[in-house]
Amino acid sequence: MASRVAVVGAGPSGLAQLHAFEEARKQGADVPELVCFEKQGDWAGLWNYTWRTGLDEYGDAVHGSMYRYLWSNGPKECLEFADYTFDEHFGKPIPSFPPREVLFDYVTGRAKKNNVRQFIQFNTAVRWISYDDSEAKFALIVEELESGATRTEEFDYVIVGTGHFSVPNVPTFEGFTQFPGRILHSHDFRDAREFTGKDLLVIGSSYSAEDIALQSKKYGAKSVTVSYRTAPMGFPWPEGIDEVPLLRKLDGKTAHFADGTVRQVDAIVLCTGYQHSFGFIEDSLRLRTANVLYTPSLYKGVFWLDNPKMMYLGMQDQFYTFTLFDAQAWYARDYVLGRLSLPSRDEMAKDVDAWRARLDTLADAFEQIDFQADHIADLAKDVDYPVFDLDLTREHFKKWEHDKEESIIGYRDRGFSSPCTGTGAPNHHTPWWQELDDSMATFLGE
Ligand SMILES: Cc1cc2nc3c(=O)[nH]c(=O)nc-3n(C[C@H](O)[C@H](O)[C@H](O)COP(=O)(O)OP(=O)(O)OC[C@H]3O[C@@H](n4cnc5c(N)ncnc54)[C@H](O)[C@@H]3O)c2cc1C
Ligand SMILES: NC(=O)c1ccc[n+]([C@@H]2O[C@H](COP(=O)([O-])OP(=O)(O)OC[C@H]3O[C@@H](n4cnc5c(N)ncnc54)[C@H](OP(=O)(O)O)[C@@H]3O)[C@@H](O)[C@H]2O)c1
Repeated sequence: MASRVAVVGAGPSGLAQLHAFEEARKQGADVPELVCFEKQGDWAGLWNYTWRTGLDEYGDAVHGSMYRYLWSNGPKECLEFADYTFDEHFGKPIPSFPPREVLFDYVTGRAKKNNVRQFIQFNTAVRWISYDDSEAKFALIVEELESGATRTEEFDYVIVGTGHFSVPNVPTFEGFTQFPGRILHSHDFRDAREFTGKDLLVIGSSYSAEDIALQSKKYGAKSVTVSYRTAPMGFPWPEGIDEVPLLRKLDGKTAHFADGTVRQVDAIVLCTGYQHSFGFIEDSLRLRTANVLYTPSLYKGVFWLDNPKMMYLGMQDQFYTFTLFDAQAWYARDYVLGRLSLPSRDEMAKDVDAWRARLDTLADAFEQIDFQADHIADLAKDVDYPVFDLDLTREHFKKWEHDKEESIIGYRDRGFSSPCTGTGAPNHHTPWWQELDDSMATFLGE
C-alpha cells in the first residue's frame, strides 16, 4: 500500500508541511497520501483570531491566544517566505510590523495559491496517536467534532504541528482567592479596552507581558505595574508603566511586592507563559520540553529520536517563525520522500546534545538569534528551500533588539529590507502608539 502521512494541525507549521509536499509534487515527485487534521473550523492556527475563551463550541479547550489589536512583534522581513514574498502577495511594499489580520492574509495567501486546503479535514481533532511496532504503523484516533463520530486511521508517518502557545502555565499567589477583581492568563486576554481606566497588574517579563502592558496603556489603562520573577525587561516604558519585583501577596486590592513596593490594583493578567502539552500522544512518542530554542529528543529539531517517523514542527521557542517552520517542513518532507537518510540513533542523540550544550553557553539575545539562524542554516543546507539572505535577517533581528531598547513604543515604526527581494519597507502612515485601528484596510491605506 502506498504510504500515508498525517499532519496534525493546520497552523503555519502544518501549512508549511503541506506546501513543502506540494512543491515537490509540482516538480514531479511521487508524494504519499497527505491528510491534515485541524480541530478548528479554519486554518492559520493562532493567527485565526477567535473571540472565544475557555471552551470552544464543542467543549474543547480554545486554541487561540491572540487578541484584538495584536501587531507583529518582530519585523515581517524576518519571517518572509522565500518562495512567496510580501511583494508578491500584496502587490506593493508594505511596512515592517503588520497587524494580525495582515499576517493571517499573507500566511493563507500562500496556502491558497498552492491549494493545500484540499488536504485538510477541519473540525477534526486528533484524540490519540500510538505506534504499533509489529505493523510499523501509527494509529490515529480522530473525532469529527460536529457529529462526535470517532474513527481510527493508520499512517506511516506523523508530523505534529499543534503549536505550544495554547495551554497556559498558571501559577497562583497568596490572596488570589479573595481578590475582588478579575484575574486572567494572557491566553484569555482578548481586548485591552477591558482595562480602560483601571490599575492593572501584569505578571511576567517576556513578550506577552511586554505587549499586554503596552496595549493596555495604549487603550486607556490608568496604570500598569509589571511584576517580574527573574529580571526586569528594562525598556524605557511610557509614563504609567513600570516594573517591580515579584508579587508576594495580595491583601484585598493591595498588592505587596518582594522589594516592599505596595500598589492598589483592579485586575491581574498572568503573562506567565505556556506548557508544551501533548495529551493526545502516547507516552513513548510524547515530547516533553520547556520553551527553549533547542528541544531535547528531536534530531534537527524535528525527528523523534526513538522513532524518526514521528516528527514535530515548530516546537522551539521562537525568534524565527515562518521560515523556521518552512526549513523544518522541507527537511521532514525530504526524509519521507527518501531523499534524505538519517544517521544512527546514537549519532542523532550526539547531535542533539551538541546543540543543547551550545544552548547553555548563550549569553544574550544576540547569541540566541544567531543560534536559531544557525539551526535554520543547518536544515537549509540539505534541502532545496529557495535561497534567501538569512544573514540579513540576523542583522535585522539585532537591530530590532536595539530599536526596542531605544523606544519600546516606537520600534514598530521602523522599516527593514526584504531578505528575498531587497525591497525597503515604507513607513506606516501613523505611528504605532497613536494607531488604534488595526484593520488590514487601514494598515494598507485602502
Ligand atoms: C499571543 C501570541 C502572539 C504571537 N505573535 C507572533 C508574531 O507577532 N510574530 C510571529 O512570527 N509569531 C508570533 N507568535 C508565535 C506563533 O507561535 C507562530 O507565529 C505560529 O502561529 C506557530 O504556528 P504553529 O502552526 O506551530 O502553531 P499554531 O499557530 O498554534 O497552530 C497549531 C494548530 O494545530 C491545531 N491543533 C492543536 N491540537 C490539535 C489536535 N489535537 N488535533 C487537530 N488539530 C490540533 C490548532 O487548532 C491550530 O490550528 C505569537 C504567539 C502568541 C501566543
Ligand atoms: N505579537 C506580539 O506582540 C506578541 C504578544 C505576546 C506574545 N507573543 C508571542 O507569544 C509567545 C509566548 O510569549 P509569552 O511571553 O507568553 O511566554 P514566554 O516567552 O515563555 O515567557 C513566559 C514568562 O512567564 C514568566 N513566568 C513563568 N512562570 C512564572 C511564575 N510562576 N511567576 C512569575 N513569572 C513567571 C517567565 O519568567 P522568568 O523569566 O522568570 O522565567 C517569563 O517571563 C512568544 O513567541 C511571543 O513572541 C507575541
